[in-house]
Amino acid sequence: MTKPAAAVADAGQIKKLHAARASLAMLRDDMILGIGTGSTVNAFIDLLGTDGWASRLRGAVSSSEGSSARLRALGTPILDLNEVPDLPLYIDGADEATRARVLIKGGGAALTREKIIAAAADRFVCIVDDSKLVETLGRFPLPVEVIPMARCYVARRLASLGGRPVWREGTTTDNGNHILDLHDLAIADPMALEAAINQITGVVTVGLFAARPADLLVIGASGGVEFI
Ligand code: 5RP
Repeated sequence: MTKPAAAVADAGQIKKLHAARASLAMLRDDMILGIGTGSTVNAFIDLLGTDGWASRLRGAVSSSEGSSARLRALGTPILDLNEVPDLPLYIDGADEATRARVLIKGGGAALTREKIIAAAADRFVCIVDDSKLVETLGRFPLPVEVIPMARCYVARRLASLGGRPVWREGTTTDNGNHILDLHDLAIADPMALEAAINQITGVVTVGLFAARPADLLVIGASGGVEFI
């Protein structure tokens, strides 16, 4: 018998909550925290509110206007990365992850700010449910943020790498740019592909996190949490 859709959705949400709750143990009083974007991070932000952490943090550097609004509503000050001398911890989700902690991110269109915060953070903790774990990246279309006038040029260059770029029409990033999603490309060498896409003029960011992978992967499953 197949499970009803609502039960599957609830099970997924519970796994996200497991991962989000496990990462609360990494917080410290008066900390400045990097916080990402997405439904798993939203579960984490909700826990910051219910568990009293929202007011114990000095502030947060957030990867999107959406996460900033949720944090502000809980009373957590939003800080500009330029005003923060160091960032000990960044917590964010991912669209796909390997056991080597290499990620695809950007399903929520926040990849550029996410890459900047991950680069600036001492420690990047990625919280996912076990459906995100893959052997080879690429089942999830790889997001690429592009300068709008370069969209078609970049799409042609991405197609020459073997994938099928699709414009995420109707989406404008918080930076005012467009997103191309690269479909049908099994990513055998994430480091090389990240470097190759970064070289294309007009690309702002590719959502491959290989050069700067997560330091810790927290995987929520139905039976609990796995740390890699
Ligand atoms: C946003 C992201 C998110 O981390 C990613 O899309 C995962 O989202 P969710 O937790 O909703 O599955 O990269 O740009």
